[in-house]
Amino acid sequence: MTTQATSSAGQGESTGAETLTVTDNRTGQVYELPIADGTIRATDLRQIRVDDDDFGLMTYDPAFMNTASCRSAVTFLDGERGVLEYRGYPIEQLAEKSTFLEVAYLLVYGDLPTQAQLDAWVGQIADHSGVDENFRRLLEGFRYDAHPMGMLQSAVGALSTYYPEAKDVGDPDVRMEQVIRLIGTVPTLGAWAFRHNQGWPLVYPDASLDYPSNVINMFFNKGGAFEIDPRLARAMDVLLILHADHEQNCSTSAVRSVGSSQADPYSAVAAGVSALYGPLHGGANEAVLRMLKRIKDPKDIPAFMEGVKSGQERLMGFGHRVYKNYDPRARIIKKACDDVFAVTGVNPLLSIAVELEKIALEDEYFVKRKLYPNVDFYSGLIYEALNIPVEMFTVMFAIGRTPGWVAQWLEMIQDKEQKISRPRQVYVGARQRDYTEIGARSS
Ligand code: SDX
Repeated sequence: MTTQATSSAGQGESTGAETLTVTDNRTGQVYELPIADGTIRATDLRQIRVDDDDFGLMTYDPAFMNTASCRSAVTFLDGERGVLEYRGYPIEQLAEKSTFLEVAYLLVYGDLPTQAQLDAWVGQIADHSGVDENFRRLLEGFRYDAHPMGMLQSAVGALSTYYPEAKDVGDPDVRMEQVIRLIGTVPTLGAWAFRHNQGWPLVYPDASLDYPSNVINMFFNKGGAFEIDPRLARAMDVLLILHADHEQNCSTSAVRSVGSSQADPYSAVAAGVSALYGPLHGGANEAVLRMLKRIKDPKDIPAFMEGVKSGQERLMGFGHRVYKNYDPRARIIKKACDDVFAVTGVNPLLSIAVELEKIALEDEYFVKRKLYPNVDFYSGLIYEALNIPVEMFTVMFAIGRTPGWVAQWLEMIQDKEQKISRPRQVYVGARQRDYTEIGARSS
């Protein structure tokens, strides 16, 4: 039984001492651990031992619920207050005033660009958005109905075979060249995966178009006159901005972990694409649409919600590891729905989503667990209104997240404190077993 340390300072009053005093009740030893940035170093716990053979204390934190893996200056989240800032700029201002490529520059370089810097950046991305013709054959190797995220993760990994110089992660110019290539080519590979699914001929990037219009063009242009409504291009640009980064989420942690072995950035980002594919992460936007279509009619919502509360399924698009308040991105996306539906007509599933949200925000099950709509709850309604098929929703997320992945990768590679990522474990398995010949084994 651990004795609750009594503090003369009381809860919340500061004594000015930035240390933690720990008493190991197994030995009576007292330890003074420095506190920095609201953390203690896990390796400082190793001194707490019962004898010289003892390895020393570790922290046990499955899924890293309370473990900082790095110091980062890219994205700030305040989950309790629903605050999201890219390099200190509030997401609400960036979504309203910026463009996706300007935000990509901000994430990568840390500051908003001058006009000259932005023009050069946009030109570099456009110049590096094509891929080798052999990617046609790579895609032809997939079934017509292969999931586009499976194709994207393969294609991004394959990029590493075309740019072997990318392995030189210590060269700043080589690093930046790959960063630009990834931001330029991921939409091309995503669009080509979509066209492969549709059986349509591939459309090449068009440097005369802005980034979102180029994405829409590569997706949907089937030759001849092809008009892109600027309101829809703007809506896609805002969606890409909202997905651009989100500190140490599952896929970014995968990128950092793979990149920590000094694998090339294409291999690291391919790992991010793979992690994003999961329905608990980026795959949630696809799962939300399937959920809304399955409910079909608002009158079936109460029965569905009972299934959620009894643990038979999850309200996809709700809940978040960090946000215990409304995800600020969901609020912006919900507003962007109005702009898109003014052009495309209202998505009939919107009424089900709005009713689900209304019920959930008043229901004790969700209120007690602080479950609010997250970025994935409304985004799929816009993608569907843009005629993007549900299998492609997470590809859209990957296109948006690429600047964040590469910005975090750059920060990790240049962080003097970062080494190869290699967590410890608590071993709970058998020990010291002698090999038995196969004839002597019983099932
Ligand atoms: C993204 O990390 C990021 O930043 C991710 C992201 C980004 O930009 O990179 O924001 C993008 O991935 C958003 C999340 C998209 N996923 C979904 O919408 C899937 C549905 N949501 C959940 O599965 C869940 O909320 C997570 C995965 C998002 C968070 O899971 P946690 O933090 O591990 O929480 P948990 O699973 O331990 O849940 C805590 C409780 C549990 O109930 P009890 O066991 O306490 O009774 O809340 C319940 C859960 O059952 N719960 C839900 C729920 N989410 C959590 N119950 C019903 N529906 C849900 N959606």
